[in-house]
Amino acid sequence: MDKLPVVGQREETVGLTESELENEIRRLKTERNAVILAHYYQESEIQDLADFVGDSLQLSQQAAKTKADVIAFCGVHFMAETAKILNPNKIVVVPDLTAGCSLADGCPAPLFGRWLEQYPGHTVVSYINCSAEVKALSDIICTSSNAVKIVKALGGEKVVFAPDRHLGAFVAKQASRPDLVTWQGTCVVHETFSERRLLELMAQHPDAEVIAHPECTEAILRHAHHVASTSGLIDYAKKSPKQTFIVATEAGILHKMHQAAPDKTLIAAPPEDESCACNMCPYMKKNTLEKLYLCLRDLAPQVDVPEPIRIRALRPIQRMLDMSV
Ligand code: 13P
Ligand code: SF4
Repeated sequence: MDKLPVVGQREETVGLTESELENEIRRLKTERNAVILAHYYQESEIQDLADFVGDSLQLSQQAAKTKADVIAFCGVHFMAETAKILNPNKIVVVPDLTAGCSLADGCPAPLFGRWLEQYPGHTVVSYINCSAEVKALSDIICTSSNAVKIVKALGGEKVVFAPDRHLGAFVAKQASRPDLVTWQGTCVVHETFSERRLLELMAQHPDAEVIAHPECTEAILRHAHHVASTSGLIDYAKKSPKQTFIVATEAGILHKMHQAAPDKTLIAAPPEDESCACNMCPYMKKNTLEKLYLCLRDLAPQVDVPEPIRIRALRPIQRMLDMSV
């Protein structure tokens, strides 16, 4: 049977060399008055071309203040969607419309809405890794860099946290909220790190510090000297007097971490299966230089959010941004 075309997605190969693609992307960026925002998990050549590389909170802060007409978002769908919610009159394009996220995909809004009915009177705190429809059902959004602070700021309010159960467990512990009700989603990348292999690595490098993203399981987080968002981990590796770090998050972070801390030794935390590339996000890695060039050239695929959903999703995002200045 013939392969069906993916709606909004091109299968074109442009036949340009890497340096030609980079030149074309720079030219189109000026021509379109576009800004390129990229997450730390993007391929290094995309990070090097971006106007700004950051974690989810920093990327939404950049999106909120950009003067560009076009935002080319190199990350995953929920990140570009957040940029669109903040900028309804700007064009938001992505290299690959199918770059999703297991956390967002694992929390469909109709199911989430029905689940919430069990928790009347609870404040709904949703991790930014969720769809616009789930954001529209939420009271406040958080990211890995402000989740603890936001839940603490809610004082004694009853709280529902979604969709990441590991981040939820971490927040419950840090904010002393054992009563936190948590949706049971997980990140396919962060749950693959192996405690057994991490312990072996720690024994081989007794002076190394383990640094981890809070989407990791408790079995990994309990060995971490520092737990933070992607930008928090880069900052820590740069400022810590230690020389060697075992880094438990998606491997794309090592590019900027090496640039920020060139004299440090960085070791990627191992997944259980030695032969897999499970510490690479399969969604983030869908974006390529060629697809970035095509999305700037064609102004497609674009990310759009229906206006009634956008208005309801904006409120909890804005509440987070107001609490994060
Ligand atoms: P950060 O906000 O820490 O960059 O995390 C985003 C993400 O998707 C982690 O998997
Ligand atoms: Fe989603 Fe995990 Fe990929 Fe982050 S690393 S975008 S949480 S699947």
